[in-house]
Amino acid sequence: MQIKIQKILEEVTQLNVKNKQELEEFRVKFLGKKGYINDLFSEFKNVPSEKRKEIGQKINNLKIEVQKKINLLKDSFENNEEELEIKKDLTLPVDFENLGARHPLSIVYNEIVNIFSRIGFNVSEGPEIEDEWHNFSALNFPEEHPARDMQDTFFIENNPNDIKNQVALRTHTSCVQARVMESSKPPIRTISPGRVFRNEAISARAHCIFHQVEGLYIDKNVSFADLKQTLLYFAKEMFGESTKIRFRPSYFPFTEPSAELDVTCNICGGKGCNVCKYTGWLEILGCGMVDPNVLKNCGIDNEKYTGFAFGMGIERIAMLKYQINDLRLFFENDMGFLKQFESAI
Ligand code: PHE
Repeated sequence: MQIKIQKILEEVTQLNVKNKQELEEFRVKFLGKKGYINDLFSEFKNVPSEKRKEIGQKINNLKIEVQKKINLLKDSFENNEEELEIKKDLTLPVDFENLGARHPLSIVYNEIVNIFSRIGFNVSEGPEIEDEWHNFSALNFPEEHPARDMQDTFFIENNPNDIKNQVALRTHTSCVQARVMESSKPPIRTISPGRVFRNEAISARAHCIFHQVEGLYIDKNVSFADLKQTLLYFAKEMFGESTKIRFRPSYFPFTEPSAELDVTCNICGGKGCNVCKYTGWLEILGCGMVDPNVLKNCGIDNEKYTGFAFGMGIERIAMLKYQINDLRLFFENDMGFLKQFESAI
């Protein structure tokens, strides 16, 4: 039997094939059901026990050699000229085997934009590098407000004695709304999605770069009831029809009154679980009625018009929707993580 194995091994090393068909024949001859290797395994039953270990190993090695040879020949085909000619032909249909998936942040981003566009909100964008006016002053941030501090803001030009000429990476997309108010007349109904930057330590719950969608609605007689109804609609569309909302009082320089919005936990339905820390509620966004000072700063008559605004983190919504517990996963491009979203829209 040892001689037989040796002979087959020699045959394998010397073997050469001309095309894929011959390669397949070779594979069947050696690895097929009735192939050499299986024959050897059937004969193996008769091998005396003291020789079994040695011969068993040899057959296994032979099998590995055959597989290696097949792979080698296969590779050589893939690189041969004929194949290369075919690959150069740009009119052939593309190979869809490795079609990519959308990033979970893009999925949620698109969903948020779609939900608001269904009730008449358009999308506005603005620069990621912002001046002091649009990021802070127009939005009613007092000059000594801590959010302007180096701890929160990445300043590009920072002269504490000349606050008006500071330039920074935007810390929120509310600055886009300031720009929209300056350049258009009410009624305004817009959302501004985009990347924002804050000088935070990177952890499972925070990152120095993240994404926001902020919304703004300005018209005559806009009230807190409109804000409530709009956000209730959003929460139901995003997390399911049975979702309830609640407001908690809060503070933002650019809204008065201000609130934070909670939705019933989409995991336990409000009964209490470790995701909602047994409260039944999850915080999803900040909101409020646009402060009349902000309207005035941006050239809108605050006697005639009122408005509401809200802002949410896309990462936070995605984490809640897909039960992702570490924010860093969004930025690592780990294939195992991303592949899970292949079937999502
Ligand atoms: N700009 C706020 C933030 O970045 C969110 C917000 C927007 C709050 C609009 C109220 C109104 O946290």
